[in-house]
Amino acid sequence: PRNVARGPGGALTVAGLDVRDLAAEYGTPAYVLDEDDLRGRCREFRAAFPDADIYYAGKAFLCRAVVRMIAEEGLFLDVCTGGELATALSAGMPPARIGFHGNNKSVAELTRAVDAGVGRIIVDSFTEIDRLTELARERRVRPKVLVRVTVGVEAHTHEFIATAHEDQKFGFSLAGGAAAAAAFKILDEDVLELRGLHSHIGSQIFDASGFEVSARRVLALQSQIRDARGVELPELDLGGGFGIAYTTQDDPATPHDLAKRLRKIVDGECAAENLAVPHLSVEPGRAIVGPAVFTLYEVGTVKSVPTGTGGDAADGRAYVSVDGGMSDNIRTALYDASYSATLANRTSTAQPMLARVVGKHCESGDIVVKDEFLPADVQPGDLVAVPGTGAYCRSMASNYNHVPRPPVVAVREGRARLIVRRETEDDLLALDVG
Ligand code: LLP
Repeated sequence: PRNVARGPGGALTVAGLDVRDLAAEYGTPAYVLDEDDLRGRCREFRAAFPDADIYYAGKAFLCRAVVRMIAEEGLFLDVCTGGELATALSAGMPPARIGFHGNNKSVAELTRAVDAGVGRIIVDSFTEIDRLTELARERRVRPKVLVRVTVGVEAHTHEFIATAHEDQKFGFSLAGGAAAAAAFKILDEDVLELRGLHSHIGSQIFDASGFEVSARRVLALQSQIRDARGVELPELDLGGGFGIAYTTQDDPATPHDLAKRLRKIVDGECAAENLAVPHLSVEPGRAIVGPAVFTLYEVGTVKSVPTGTGGDAADGRAYVSVDGGMSDNIRTALYDASYSATLANRTSTAQPMLARVVGKHCESGDIVVKDEFLPADVQPGDLVAVPGTGAYCRSMASNYNHVPRPPVVAVREGRARLIVRRETEDDLLALDVG
């Protein structure tokens, strides 16, 4: 987070608060959210895309307090399940500012979205178009929809490759004409209002050219629809996926640079195709909340383990076990993601040692940070902070090994407040019947 510093005694502070005090008050592990950082990122996106709508992708992290923060900052919200929709509505998010995603929305979820009056539903299959048509007739409403287009740009973590054919579950493929067919089908159903096209090429993307290729391809479909039906769709959503820095090696584009490049492509293509420039939207999740949070852990054990490479313990690595792990951050185990860690309750002049920060779960893949240099005198009772854990950590947290999920503490201008409380063992037991 941005408002992090070292205070007297070398302890990490965030928004003017000493992490030792936060640990004493809220326990560890805890996710600490720098609220001004999150709000600052919302503002940067709004400033970068002044005439576009910014839909915060709630899957990155959602709770009522965050819904209110992003709403206050003028953002819209992308939800992709009934649960996310319920959270948004219960926090008072205006339904017209909600977009509803998902490749398998149930009839119950669609009904709820339609009845709530969500601003747009991003349709993902012909089955869904049929379901929504039936629902709209029955309810005598005219939902606004976007068509999710699979543009054939396959995004990998640090690169993209354009694929001739795609093989994944989302959207309507451009190849073979499914996307055009979906748009025509909706245009033929007078109970659905086709507002535009949508594409999302992946997540944690650093190479902006993937977004450019994608924008070009959806706009080509846009003009194909205009030529065939004489309708110019008024909106275009270019999705999310903007990468963030997890380690010092990562160098993501700023929202401003991204916006400039996307604008140029969209304006250029529209001019070339003689299309009216559609109203743009984007859906950043990670780039809004990811960098605004760190996880605060307490060290429980430190063990020196030979790596086997050099044959003796001097070539080993320290295993620093913390009081959480893959239940509060599955990304290292699941995606081989890179994080960093820092000693948080003090500074140390001890030599740096190669360390692996691991959790308390019963499997060896329970790694939070694969490789990090920590001071050689790290000991039980020390606090360790892992930055960049705002996105897809709490939202993907589990109760593996019956570990209660950590709280989320929002800090701002020297004050802390709990926005998600820690789970208790009673919470864990509450679902057991009998
Ligand atoms: N829009 C759509 C339609 C999406 O599917 C997603 C993410 C986003 C926006 C937001 O993407 P972001 O800006 O946050 O990259 N669990 C994975 C990430 C899955 C992303 C799924 N869709 C991870 O931890 O990296």
